[in-house]
Amino acid sequence: MTSFEKRHHLNCCNSVVRAVLNMEQDDVSPLQHFVVAKRTISAMFQQMLEYVREGSDFVEETRKSEDLEHVAEEEQCLQIQACSRKLSVINDVLARRHMKVAFFGRTSNGKSTVINAMLRERVLPSGIGHTTNCFLSVEGTDGEHAYLTTEDSEERKSIETVNHLAHALHMDRNQDSGCLVRVFWPKTKCAVLRDDLVLMDSPGTDVTSELDSWIDKFCLDADVFVLVANSESTIMNTEKHFFHKVNERISKPNIFILNNRWDASVLEPEYLEDVRKQHMDRCVSFLVEELKVVDLHKAPDRIFFVSAKEVLSARIHRAQGMPETGGALAEGFQERLMEFQSFERTFEEFISQSAVKTKFEQHTIRAWQIIESVKAIMDAINISSAEKKVFSLEEREAQMDRLEFVRNQLNFLTEDIKDKIKAIADEVAAKVSSAMAEEICFLSVLVDEFCADFSPAPNALTLYKTKLMAYAEERMAKNLDLRCSSTINGCVMSSQRDIMDTLRPLLPPAARGHLHLPHRRFTMTYDLNFSSLCENFVEDIDFHFSLGLTSLVNRFLGPAKAKQALSLLNQNLKVTSSSAQTQDELAISMATGLVSFTSRASVGVLVTAGVCDDIFGQVWRSVGWRVVVLSVSLYGLLYLYERVTWTNSSKERALKQQFVDYATQRLQAISHILSSDCGQQVQQEMVAVFARMCQQVDKSEMELETEIRRLSARIQRLESVQRRSKTLRHKATDLESRLESFSAQYLQIQH
Ligand code: GTP
Ligand code: MG
Repeated sequence: MTSFEKRHHLNCCNSVVRAVLNMEQDDVSPLQHFVVAKRTISAMFQQMLEYVREGSDFVEETRKSEDLEHVAEEEQCLQIQACSRKLSVINDVLARRHMKVAFFGRTSNGKSTVINAMLRERVLPSGIGHTTNCFLSVEGTDGEHAYLTTEDSEERKSIETVNHLAHALHMDRNQDSGCLVRVFWPKTKCAVLRDDLVLMDSPGTDVTSELDSWIDKFCLDADVFVLVANSESTIMNTEKHFFHKVNERISKPNIFILNNRWDASVLEPEYLEDVRKQHMDRCVSFLVEELKVVDLHKAPDRIFFVSAKEVLSARIHRAQGMPETGGALAEGFQERLMEFQSFERTFEEFISQSAVKTKFEQHTIRAWQIIESVKAIMDAINISSAEKKVFSLEEREAQMDRLEFVRNQLNFLTEDIKDKIKAIADEVAAKVSSAMAEEICFLSVLVDEFCADFSPAPNALTLYKTKLMAYAEERMAKNLDLRCSSTINGCVMSSQRDIMDTLRPLLPPAARGHLHLPHRRFTMTYDLNFSSLCENFVEDIDFHFSLGLTSLVNRFLGPAKAKQALSLLNQNLKVTSSSAQTQDELAISMATGLVSFTSRASVGVLVTAGVCDDIFGQVWRSVGWRVVVLSVSLYGLLYLYERVTWTNSSKERALKQQFVDYATQRLQAISHILSSDCGQQVQQEMVAVFARMCQQVDKSEMELETEIRRLSARIQRLESVQRRSKTLRHKATDLESRLESFSAQYLQIQH
């Protein structure tokens, strides 16, 4: 090749490399698949978490609600709370989820260089000999400054350059190879770190005997393993041994093989294809036959021939605006660069697909189950609240019917009971009236039985009369009570019972037993009040000769008219215009009285006198004066006799008789008032009893109204529970369909 041809060739190569490097920067990284999936699933889990928390609050609220007992059970509460906790844990785990690629291989094979090439910067120290002495993970940080953390401390140690890091690691030599140092590198510097990718460098597999603990500690959550082999030699047993161990612990690990240092092959271009084929065959055989982690036809896609050193240097130069090759470009560089890019793309596609599946599949299934169980809880609450609502509606209907019945029945019965009370009052009044009539007849006997010191002296007389009245009142009241009480009480009791029996069905069953007759017996008060009744009673206990003028007038005219006549006589028969009529009446009365007297006592004598006038004259002549004397003597004797026998006891008798007459008259006058008063008393008693019963019924009405209000409120609450459980169920269905579309888009799993 001439120098011109060489220069031309170089120029061509440079432009191809530039194009390739430009292309790789503009493309959207396949890692975005994982990033987007993670963002989607995280948002979904956040929503699910909010949803389950809302559901949990709802279930808790429903369970605690006083009158919604057994709509939500405690078990459901615990179950949904557990769901919420699980989701919360998954949410946290998801936030930390990233794709992890682990690089293994013998010392100096170029693991650190490969990582640096991928990062497009010299981040990790590399060099001849055993360089990396512990595990180093490189992940992105949003900050501007790089730092590292070690396992033993949370302290962030600042690192500016790779030399700083090398120095820091060198200073930390007491760490053994099983330790992890986490390097946080600004995402702004390395595009690959922006997409949740963690790259893990390891010490050479040939320098440790702690392979098992390495695997346990660093490999179980790795999505992809990259075996960085040295193309200048063949894959060593130490490397194979390590991957065999990985294969034992992880089912079908995703393994890529980078035959690094492929730039060295240009030294012997004639053997290039043979060497490549030899490496390829061995690598395929290792993956397919020994490890059995990939199918034969897919195995070559996992094996690459690259030069990390070249790629890193080209990328660094480009970043610094210098020629990518740094002036010297080895043969076949662009192919190796393209192969490295091909590795990166394949690896990125693969890791993002694989990581989405391994990192999110289980969580999606778990979320599915959680949403299913929350949905089942919502369904159960919905059904339970619907059932209870129907039950409450029926109960309320029954209570409303009962309330209406009680109200109507009370109105209807009130009229009926009022009539009954009226009838009983009338009955009692009639009974008292007849008892009263009998007692009035019995009054004289009753008064006769009264004993007290009698003296005609005015004061003593007044006292006597007071006592007599009190006695008569007490006895009469007692007698009336004796006559009526049993009948009236029976009457009152039976009608009270009647009222109760009538109203009893209007009371709630529990209150019916408490309905009793009033404890006190009904006692009738007979308001005879003799003192005011006979307050105008004036006795006449002066001596009156039975054949005296007054008595005779009394006998003929009756006491009232006699009084008038006598008062007229007392006034010497002075005629006034006003008394003319009275005198006429008196004259008529006298005449009538005389006729009566004649007819009763002396009719025979007078007739005989008229008829036998002659005989009388003869008799008178023979015995005349004797008869007169005898008559006068007899009259005188009679007067004397009466006068002598007009003692205190006679006066008492006379007073008693006068009192009986007067009281009889007065009692007869007030009889109907008294009896109707008794009727009133019974009526009042009955009305009071009825009012008490009505109060009970009112109370039961109020209880019914309260119960109806309570049931209405309960129905409303149940409806709201039903609505909310339904809404929450719909939300669950929405989330399920989101999970479904996520699965279809990212996981291709069938549920
Ligand atoms: P340890 O950390 O010691 O296990 O080694 P390592 O696998 O990390 O290797 P490292 O990246 O430190 O590289 C070792 C040496 O090989 C360095 O001097 C690199 O420059 C060199 N090297 C790495 N990759 C290549 C390559 O592709 N071609 C050539 N020629 N040299 C390379
Ligand atoms: Mg290294």
